[in-house]
Amino acid sequence: MAKYKIVMVRHGESEWNQKNLFCGWFDADLSEKGRNEAAAAGKALKEAGYQFDLAHTSLLTRAHKTLAAILGEIGQADLPTEKTWRLNERHYGGLTGLNKAETAAKYGEEQVQIWRRSFDTPPPPMEADHAYFDTIVNDPRYANGPSKDEFPKFESLKLTIARTLPYWNDVIIPQLKEGKRVLIAAHGNSLRGIVKHLDGMSDEAIMALNLPTGIPFVYELDENFKPVVSMQFLGDEETVRKAIEAVAAQGKAK
Ligand code: 3PG
Repeated sequence: MAKYKIVMVRHGESEWNQKNLFCGWFDADLSEKGRNEAAAAGKALKEAGYQFDLAHTSLLTRAHKTLAAILGEIGQADLPTEKTWRLNERHYGGLTGLNKAETAAKYGEEQVQIWRRSFDTPPPPMEADHAYFDTIVNDPRYANGPSKDEFPKFESLKLTIARTLPYWNDVIIPQLKEGKRVLIAAHGNSLRGIVKHLDGMSDEAIMALNLPTGIPFVYELDENFKPVVSMQFLGDEETVRKAIEAVAAQGKAK
């Protein structure tokens, strides 16, 4: 029997998703397609009758704009929202800004798949001379965290989970226990980390998980926060399947 329910959604397509660039902590905006996906996500939640008490999102624009579009569609534009770096996309390190298909052509599709989907193999670090290092490290949005020691130069999924789970356990779980209806608008890999945790997925199984942009999914959890319903997408099966395949295909050499 489900005691808790939570809705999660990856941001709509970003301009860097559209260009097939490794994005991570670069603050890419939504593409037009991404804005349409975000509106459609809101419409789907409205049609399903969802209302929320709280939302959580990252510090990145693509997630904020997706959340704003959703809340506008469901008539909750002023919903209390908590923003945290702990829900940011995984930091793609030195790969940030590179084209995924070109990187696959240069290093091989297998290596790109490992960098994108493995549990504990990180991408190469973002060094101080990287084109986007200063933009990211000096961004005032990080004034309240991460600390200097916590600020990543790269993240594996394992490292991403290590900084997302404390927020899940210390902030989100207590709110669910209070009976709050919670929505999370975040990123492909910060959400993959939460999914891996909830479903107890193996380090191997998580390799196969790709999350589509802009399609909300629901978890129903028992009294021990174990899934009774896992990753129930609010979209027709064919649309969801094609969207997931498109994400997976981003790592193929052209
Ligand atoms: C990015 O950060 O490039 C994307 O938002 C997620 O990329 P991935 O699907 O290649 O992990």
